[in-house]
Amino acid sequence: MKAQVNGITIAYNDQGTGLPIVFLHAFPLNRTMWAAQENALSSQFRIVTIDLRGHGESDAPLWHYTLDQSADDVRTLLDHLAIQQALFVGLSMGGYILFAFYRIFADRVKGLILADTRAQADTAEGKQGRFQMAQTAYKKGPSAIADVMVPKLLSPMRIQTEPGLVRQVRAMIEGNQISGIAGDLMAMAERPDSVPLLSRITCPTQIIVGELDQATPPSDSKLMAEQIPHTRLAIIPNAAHLSNLEQPEAFNQIVSAFALNLEK
Ligand code: MLT
Repeated sequence: MKAQVNGITIAYNDQGTGLPIVFLHAFPLNRTMWAAQENALSSQFRIVTIDLRGHGESDAPLWHYTLDQSADDVRTLLDHLAIQQALFVGLSMGGYILFAFYRIFADRVKGLILADTRAQADTAEGKQGRFQMAQTAYKKGPSAIADVMVPKLLSPMRIQTEPGLVRQVRAMIEGNQISGIAGDLMAMAERPDSVPLLSRITCPTQIIVGELDQATPPSDSKLMAEQIPHTRLAIIPNAAHLSNLEQPEAFNQIVSAFALNLEK
């Protein structure tokens, strides 16, 4: 489905009834990374997955991107869908957007699931890396970005043994436009430090991380778990950064248990 949001087209899926659960994807992927969650959970809950600005079937305008803008796109889409409050799941960049969303629209958040993400801002070196990656995207195209990103997103074992999963992740990356990839990199480089926000998050929160995640390692999740007041931490064995794709059953089970508890 598609909606006009803040002057651009945003693509999304909206399936099932019950507690709305809104899923925000990682960089530089799209809403299809949540297919296993959508299939397993839409019989119990209302599952909304969104192609964020710059990704998948949504528009990727050539302009300045910010995570606050993406948060406002999500809020505007929820208004369009008449969803007042939801449980939000954000993985990696999706989690960064949830910090922006919570800062601006905390009253719309019934609960948060922060998966394979971190609260700290980029270091100076990290920002420089974003700049270099944007130049790679500009000069060589999205397939060069897939070459760089796949080893950061999936565990070495999956890359060796699951060519279908690697193809799926590459296809998501290669389906993006350069304007969206560069826009995200700019937005992530400029994002503020969310560590001071953590102690002010008052809704129930679940943190999930793959034990093999190197992009946002379990130490980043432990830092969030120590500072967010009402939170639990789940470490998924044998999963790297895209823990929802590498271990969908374990991931779904954590989301479902947390959502059922939230409904009580
Ligand atoms: C992601 O998976 O969204 C990215 O790895 C996040 C990042 O580059 O910081």
